[in-house]
Amino acid sequence: MSLVELLARVDAAVRPALISVLPPRLAVAFYSWARQIAVRTLMASSPPQPVVPPPTLERRLWGIRFRSPLFNAAGMFKHGEGYALAYRQGAGAYLAGTTTALPRMGNVRRGIALPFVPYPRSSAASNWLGLPNPGHRAVAQRIASFERYEAFPIGASVALDPGDFSIDALEQLLEGLWRYREAGTDFFELNESCPNTGDDHAAMNALSERLRVIAERFIQPSGAPVLLKISSDTEAAVIEQIVPLLGELGYAGVTIGNTSTQYNFHRAMIAASERRTYDYFVQTFGGGISGAPIRRQVVESVSVAARAAAQCPGEFHIIAVGGIANGSHVVTAIETGASLTEWYTGYFERFAQSGHLVYETLWQEIIVAQR
Ligand SMILES: Cc1cc2nc3c(=O)[nH]c(=O)nc-3n(C[C@H](O)[C@H](O)[C@H](O)COP(=O)(O)O)c2cc1C
Repeated sequence: MSLVELLARVDAAVRPALISVLPPRLAVAFYSWARQIAVRTLMASSPPQPVVPPPTLERRLWGIRFRSPLFNAAGMFKHGEGYALAYRQGAGAYLAGTTTALPRMGNVRRGIALPFVPYPRSSAASNWLGLPNPGHRAVAQRIASFERYEAFPIGASVALDPGDFSIDALEQLLEGLWRYREAGTDFFELNESCPNTGDDHAAMNALSERLRVIAERFIQPSGAPVLLKISSDTEAAVIEQIVPLLGELGYAGVTIGNTSTQYNFHRAMIAASERRTYDYFVQTFGGGISGAPIRRQVVESVSVAARAAAQCPGEFHIIAVGGIANGSHVVTAIETGASLTEWYTGYFERFAQSGHLVYETLWQEIIVAQR
């Protein structure tokens, strides 16, 4: 067992008690720091032998081969690190970012940098990182140096600098997309601020206009598959409006969904012993909730998107992300209409149990759940 596998296992054993007994501020301060150390230690580690997914799990989307339907969600490899690790662990693809035009340090509040806390008894987490990243250019450069592997596509998640919807910002986003494309990136995820409700007509019109410009200036000339990533809180009416628009503009699909801010709604899914920390986090930082509490709403949204996508003229796919932590979650998402799945919170939960065999154990569960 490697050091990182041992640390993850020990942490998983003590984590439920720590989150229940530590004063909430201390729990958040500790895990905000520990998350960064854990990610760095993980990136420096690697399975002794590459793990290869069973050939029956392979998918072909937009003419690209994915050796299995599960890979990391955006935000796990913000600096373009962990490429060889993801390949050797057996992920179906590799997704870098999210990056923005300008490098970002991320959020600091009450002396806590990059606030994050897990709720282990609830299979959930909160984060308010604030998109820390080194910028499109740095990560694209890193991708250009990657050794390529068969049926292991590289994706990039990109965003506008938060709150900046200017023409200049859009130009810089387009420049970033081209840099990634020239570096050999196979598919893209656009992490956009999409209104959750249909009432915000101004925001919806502005989003439609940005999507149109990106389609004309990047998707059409490059032919690259670009998906829009939307929040798991996006209402069905908005999904029914956005999916046909994406299809008409030539987008390759939609990724559902990003973290949730429906704090009161999800509170019921947080274990009683973790609610003190949960309340502290959402009141102090807000942030987004990930993991099991959002799984149901993601599956419902995938189902709405799949119905809307049936009318799209070209090849249009849905990627499901939110609360995926075992093979049956993957199979449910696929049976509901997703073509691929991603995971973040569940990956770390499962890494603590299975270490570098984190994908291999999942495939066995997928195969069993598919029977
Ligand atoms: C610590 C952390 C950082 C994240 N950073 C990003 C990000 O940079 N870009 C993005 O699109 N999503 C980001 N996400 C959201 C995930 O990609 C994913 O959509 C969400 O966590 C739901 O999946 P999960 O339940 O499997 O965690 C982040 C999530 C977490 C927990």
